[in-house]
Amino acid sequence: MPAAWTAYLGLLSALSAAFAPAVAVKEHDFKKCHQSGFCQRNRAFADHALGTSSWESPYNIAPGSGSFKDGQYQAVILKTINESGETVRLPLTVSFLESGTARVTVDEEKRQKGEIELRHNSTARKERYNEAEQWVIVGGLTLDTSAKVDYEDKTQLNVKYGPSSKFEAAIKFSPFTIDFKRDGSSQIKFNDQGLLNMEHWRPKIELPEPEKKEGESNEEEPKEEPKEEPKEEPKEEPREKPKVEDESTWWDETFGGNTDSKPRGPESVGLDISFVGYEHVYGIPSHTGPLSLKQTRGGDGNYQEPYRLYNADVFEYILDSPMTLYGAIPFMQAHRKDSSVGVFWLNAAETWIDITKGKESRNPLSLGVKSKTSTHTHWISESGLLDVFVLLGPTPKDLTAKYGELTGTTAMPQEFSLGYHQCRWNYVSDEDVKDVDRKMDKFKMPYDVIWLDIEYTDEKQYFTWDKHSFPDPIGMGKQLDSHGRKLVTIIDPHIKNVDNYPVVAELKSKDLAVHNKEGSIFEGWCWPGSSYWIDAFGPAAREWWSTLFKYDAFKGSMENTWIWNDMNEPSVFNGPETTMPKDNLHYGNWEHRDLHNLNGMTFQNATFHALTSRKPGELRRPFVLTRSFFAGSQRVGAMWTGDNQAAWDHLQASIPMVLSQGISGFPFSGADVGGFFGNPEKELLTRWYQAGAFYPFFRGHAHIDSRRREPYLAGEPYSTVIAAALRLRYSLLPAWYTAFRHAHLDGTPIIKPMFYTHPSEDAGFALDDQFFVGTTGLLAKPVTEKDKATVDIWIPDAETYYDYFTYDVLPTAKGKTVALAAPLSKIPLLMRGGHVFARRDRPRRSSALMRWDDYTLVVAVGKEAKVAQGDLYVDDGDSFDFETGQYIHRRFVFDGAAQRLVSVDAVEGRGEVVAEGEWMKKMREVGVDRIVVVGAPASWAGKTTVAVEQAGRTWEARVEFTPAGKGRAAFAVVKKVGARIGADWTVDFA
Ligand code: NOJ
Repeated sequence: MPAAWTAYLGLLSALSAAFAPAVAVKEHDFKKCHQSGFCQRNRAFADHALGTSSWESPYNIAPGSGSFKDGQYQAVILKTINESGETVRLPLTVSFLESGTARVTVDEEKRQKGEIELRHNSTARKERYNEAEQWVIVGGLTLDTSAKVDYEDKTQLNVKYGPSSKFEAAIKFSPFTIDFKRDGSSQIKFNDQGLLNMEHWRPKIELPEPEKKEGESNEEEPKEEPKEEPKEEPKEEPREKPKVEDESTWWDETFGGNTDSKPRGPESVGLDISFVGYEHVYGIPSHTGPLSLKQTRGGDGNYQEPYRLYNADVFEYILDSPMTLYGAIPFMQAHRKDSSVGVFWLNAAETWIDITKGKESRNPLSLGVKSKTSTHTHWISESGLLDVFVLLGPTPKDLTAKYGELTGTTAMPQEFSLGYHQCRWNYVSDEDVKDVDRKMDKFKMPYDVIWLDIEYTDEKQYFTWDKHSFPDPIGMGKQLDSHGRKLVTIIDPHIKNVDNYPVVAELKSKDLAVHNKEGSIFEGWCWPGSSYWIDAFGPAAREWWSTLFKYDAFKGSMENTWIWNDMNEPSVFNGPETTMPKDNLHYGNWEHRDLHNLNGMTFQNATFHALTSRKPGELRRPFVLTRSFFAGSQRVGAMWTGDNQAAWDHLQASIPMVLSQGISGFPFSGADVGGFFGNPEKELLTRWYQAGAFYPFFRGHAHIDSRRREPYLAGEPYSTVIAAALRLRYSLLPAWYTAFRHAHLDGTPIIKPMFYTHPSEDAGFALDDQFFVGTTGLLAKPVTEKDKATVDIWIPDAETYYDYFTYDVLPTAKGKTVALAAPLSKIPLLMRGGHVFARRDRPRRSSALMRWDDYTLVVAVGKEAKVAQGDLYVDDGDSFDFETGQYIHRRFVFDGAAQRLVSVDAVEGRGEVVAEGEWMKKMREVGVDRIVVVGAPASWAGKTTVAVEQAGRTWEARVEFTPAGKGRAAFAVVKKVGARIGADWTVDFA
């Protein structure tokens, strides 16, 4: 690095430390695209291709190489690598799946055959990483044998596939492109812009010094991205050298003082994917920006950098940024009025995604929808296969369902995990825990779980306890259990490298840790100091991990102990970008580079499985929270958005972040309530609880240096308001649990953004600060600004909307915003007409204590036809018995014309009628105690009783009718209904 440049950088960082907020500086700890060789190369490639009118993609299907059979097309793509026409063979498979999803996979023949040489005597695998599928995909791969070639000639092949053959893939041979159509019109195009780029393996040709030195870094000097051909002297060797390629990053790369040895040289995969006529794209979490993703190539209000997916422990992350965070889901949806399509980029290596929007397709011959804006995306991964799934919708729900079919859906959670979680770093002793537990009761604040962060351990040795501060973990666990509460303890993947710690001794002797590039155990730094990392990719490591959680191994843990997996990106304090060197080796000798984004998931998965075998004969649904995740993590637990800050803008950002998780298949998510770093003012803390009561995962958490902030400490009026938010969450637990059931069955998000629920209403497509909860019709817009006493809520349709708390009726306002009063005591929450949802209204200390409570059904009468519908799902909330039909799922239908509410079995395909177990028998008897009909007809005035019919028996129940008043809807409350939740019944209001 030239000295002047170093000095300039030094000055710059000193200045920015002095004037900019401290958080801004952290950005420099993480790579920008120009500091990540393959990203820089692919962007430069794109600039060259898009800036060259005569540009032709050098990828062509080899004449005669293609064949179509049983729903699959196979061919060889030839990549032309130099002017003399030399080519590299890239086997292509296009699979048409029964679900209507198509999959395109491109590999590299030489690497499949192992015909490459690795540098530095590396023992890494020679293939492109082809095991992501094993971790991620759990279904939906059956080929659609009814897919048919519709047209074929020397230049192209058209395949019709999908439901009623509505879908079509037009595969062009030269250059290779695919145009995915639905009902004859283009939706998604591959390589339409000619950015397909598979960097094939090549030997390194050593140049005579001083032209290029090994280890030369690209980190320091941000290079201007070459817009034109670099004006270098041509070098003599005849090897491949597309003009725009910058070789300086082909081989070794250094960042932040760490050198990546890159034994295979350049091997990135890049592809442009165009969404024809689509203006909005969503997904690819986790990022802090808006739900509707921004453009990334500069310009007003846009990002300069591509969205990055490279799981990392980003200390004090910044907002409104495409920077990477802790987890990655490379699933993107595009939406326009009445149509959604999506792609899932199955690649676990470092990935960048550029997004641009423009009026036209680049290809003049393309039949793009030219009058409309299209979104062009450019996906770039460092290594691995090109492996992309294409989903053609047409509804957002189709997308989440098809994606769920591939990667699995949210596990049915432990019921307690939908309650409130009280966490901080750290509760300092078992007495402290017991005290917080008592105080929550004293202040009538329901909660289900208290958490222990790293300080509970004996000097950060997981599976041990600090004997001085936690002398009696079992006593502590029992106190919690006495009112149905749980304990979550943290267990991280770094294992302290110290003598006399049996866990590390076994990890080493059994050789189950991640290796460095030389093949010996990798050592790095994390909380305990020097540490090793369990390699959860290996089956033996996972088996061993299971042994550590047995009750007699993890002494002090008990049946109500569950687990928190943190730092699993993995976080390595002294590693490049705070993670592992990319040339580390995992099970099967795969390089860390290939599977980095899967690492967190494999660890959480190991813990999940470990918790299913703590004691012979005990099989309960595990609860494991993870910080790092990938596509598929939804099958093994919950996530949270990491280390946010006690600031209003972080509260705001949390909502699009959680919504993005939901539409990306991992809805069991939440942000640290109150903000992790710093001390929230009381108003912020209170508003955060009100918002948090609507996160699928609801946990208060705080940094070790922050002041204590258990909700009862807030003082009045805050504590009362927070208690009300907690109780609201608890009363709605039946509705939340039902929403989880839907997520489990078909991948539906738990909280849903406007574009998802109202895919025809353009004005809602960019909204990300309000949402519906499950199918309840509850529309929430948490207050996320200081000193706000009203919020403007956008009304997506012409239904009747009622205020949840007052039953006030909103003026009809389809497509308009309506101001709602939102004093501190109030959460802006509406009930959409047409829905029925269940509650439990008796306040209790924990969800377990509510288990046998009666239900209240709330009917919000709809506008047209006065109908309302909804459902309730309930199971034992703990075991896997629901898988064999031990659950109750009811459908409630209110018919305004007939003036009747009925409860019928919600047919889910339970299959054979199974013998009812104990839980089911008892649950069936639980009552429906109250029915509240909001928007009740005026004709019910004077009515005092309703007729209830159940199993041939009829009786009368009392009803109280309150007529409509000043802006408020009429409502009726049926008391002591006496119906059973598990039975068919009718309540006749006529
Ligand atoms: C980082 C996590 O993000 C945070 O929640 C936790 O408190 C600390 N690690 C300490 O374990």
